[in-house]
Amino acid sequence: MTDAPHRVDRLWPDPALDLTLDEAMAAFAPSARRVDRPVVAINMVSSIDGRAQLSGSAEGLGSRADRRLMRLYRAAFDAVGSGAGTLRATGVWLRVGDDLAARRMAEGRPPNPTGVVIAGTESVPTDGQWFAGDEPRFLVVGRENPLTDAPPGTELLRAPDERPAPAWVLAQLAQRGVRSFLLEGGPHINASFLEEGLIDEVYWTIGAHLLGTDALTMIAAMPGGSRYADEPRRGRLVSVLRHEDELFLRYRFDAGG
Ligand SMILES: NC(=O)c1ccc[n+]([C@@H]2O[C@H](COP(=O)([O-])OP(=O)(O)OC[C@H]3O[C@@H](n4cnc5c(N)ncnc54)[C@H](OP(=O)(O)O)[C@@H]3O)[C@@H](O)[C@H]2O)c1
Repeated sequence: MTDAPHRVDRLWPDPALDLTLDEAMAAFAPSARRVDRPVVAINMVSSIDGRAQLSGSAEGLGSRADRRLMRLYRAAFDAVGSGAGTLRATGVWLRVGDDLAARRMAEGRPPNPTGVVIAGTESVPTDGQWFAGDEPRFLVVGRENPLTDAPPGTELLRAPDERPAPAWVLAQLAQRGVRSFLLEGGPHINASFLEEGLIDEVYWTIGAHLLGTDALTMIAAMPGGSRYADEPRRGRLVSVLRHEDELFLRYRFDAGG
């Protein structure tokens, strides 16, 4: 079932009031494709004070409009993924919904993006709803992960390292035809992609909440320190939408920026 149209104002660029979210997103496409690897975006929601968890999940930080926006972003990508920590905490749901699946098919694309979950050393529950879909799925695990088989319909990819290096994951996806990858967190897998300089875009929803907790931020602190601690990776603001008290921001990070 499709949500009722959510109304947004486009604040930047080309300000326009009272659009539907779908109208405002009609021309959305991930930033230009790359020849060396799939283009990578992360999509996260946080509170005003930057926390990406509310009572241990992202649920409740974003509105129904944000949930629609997540699907609109997904629909534009070849593959959508999460870290295993998110799968363990809440389960993952990386599909687009019937109306956007139909739109993708009309464009000659598979109804849903390829699904990707990235684990390292620890066991992964394989009984969740993510494993029951029709879309191609990759479960990426580290060299010593105890999992030996993935459920039918899911390809198990075992990395040569203890934790799959993001560049290795992207190379595997590229070999399987993926040219764009949307990573939906959580904060630790996001950090691993940032550490390797592999985030091209950030889609950030700010929910109008203050928490004052020590919950994870959208990118977790990097073990051993961040290479960007003194020289931050600078982004450019691409667009801003407002839905009621919530902001939908898009940033682009140029190579080497
Ligand atoms: N606000 C939002 O938009 C949003 C979005 C997503 C999730 N969340 C929340 O974030 C929390 C989960 O986040 P999280 O940070 O704990 O988990 P995560 O980032 O989803 O997954 C972390 C796991 O990824 C695996 N991994 C594989 N390769 C890795 C690498 N190179 N570096 C680091 N980890 C690697 C590790 O699995 P092993 O343990 O097997 O080694 C690690 O434990 C949940 O509360 C979830 O609700 C919020």
